[in-house]
Amino acid sequence: YRTLRIALLGAGSVGSQVATLLLEHSDELAQRVGARLVLSGIAVRDLETDRGPGVPRELLTTDAEELIVGSDIVIELMGGITPAREYILLALRSGADVITGNKALLATHGPELFDLAQQVGAQLYYEAAVGGAIPIIRPLRDSLAGDRVQRILGIVNGTTNYILDRMDRGGDDLESALAAATELGYAEADPTGDIEGYDAAQKAAILAGLAFHTTVPIASVYREGITGVRAEDVEAARKAGYVVKLLAICERITDPETGSEGVSARVYPALIPRDHPLAAVRGANNAVFVEAEAAGSLMFYGAGAGGRETASAVLGDLVSAARRHVIGGPGVAESTQADLPVFDIGKVSTRY
Ligand code: NDP
Ligand code: HSE
Repeated sequence: YRTLRIALLGAGSVGSQVATLLLEHSDELAQRVGARLVLSGIAVRDLETDRGPGVPRELLTTDAEELIVGSDIVIELMGGITPAREYILLALRSGADVITGNKALLATHGPELFDLAQQVGAQLYYEAAVGGAIPIIRPLRDSLAGDRVQRILGIVNGTTNYILDRMDRGGDDLESALAAATELGYAEADPTGDIEGYDAAQKAAILAGLAFHTTVPIASVYREGITGVRAEDVEAARKAGYVVKLLAICERITDPETGSEGVSARVYPALIPRDHPLAAVRGANNAVFVEAEAAGSLMFYGAGAGGRETASAVLGDLVSAARRHVIGGPGVAESTQADLPVFDIGKVSTRY
């Protein structure tokens, strides 16, 4: 086998599981891709933190830049904008393909990163950025690219679904449920991003961009989190036959004034009838409903957060990237030609 050098940036909830699984299954992965995937190092901030038996201490480094240069594939699982953005730009300029789960970065700097990747002939993979383990990026970008998506309705944040679910089951408040979600590795480093809906809004921007072949600026996504949802609200909804869910809604719409077609993406807590399939999405699971002109309704469901579950999506991207190195080929192109306007129409309906 030839050797591909893999650099991992971050060994937190997701990164530590990626390292563990990559090392554990290295023979099987080598057979699957026709190359040996050698984990050349793992960049972290603190060399002393214990990251479990699956993460060898000798691979840890605080010098991310040195690790990146000379790698064939760079996996960014640090989160945040800086220095993740700079490291990804460096990786692409150095000729590496990049894998990331960083929706905050993609939703704010996606065009810059995709443009550079295209210029240098590298590939940027991000299946883990939306829906954790659920395959949703490839289906939207590739499988449904010949259809016309009309609407996406999704539960795309595991932390808030976990919190609302615990509140719905009774006896739990937002603070204690959030502490549990953080302990389980679902929440962002700063969980404000989860509970205030920023994380779901970033995912809505990514999904809407893919579904409608356009660029959706994060500032155009209407956003409300769950901090205003009280135990009494959840209880009242339950008595009325509903469940409260933080929904991401991405729609193709027509501007009533001009009649021109555009896109709306919005995130807020909504009421779901208890017999609706979305009401059955419990714990940190996510679900994404896609309504397309020819395909009809499709549903993607599974673990929306969690280190090991998300590592599955990252390793899938790694296999794709490695195969591209071995067999060659053009990779995949982001398609944003439609250039549809994005209409901020605010909160439209609270019942779905
Ligand atoms: P964590 O906060 O658990 O881990 C982040 C890791 O990055 C840590 O190991 C940290 O090092 C390292 N790191 C952070 N900043 C730096 C820096 N400046 N230099 C070197 N290393 C750095 O994050 P998660 O694993 O939860 O998430 C990683 C990414 O994956 C994020 O973009 C997140 O949004 C995304 N994601 C997370 C999911 C989840 O369920 N957790 C699911 C889907 C996507 P140290 O440990 O030394 O502090
Ligand atoms: N914090 C995110 C969530 C991780 O709870 O959904 C997965 O993207």
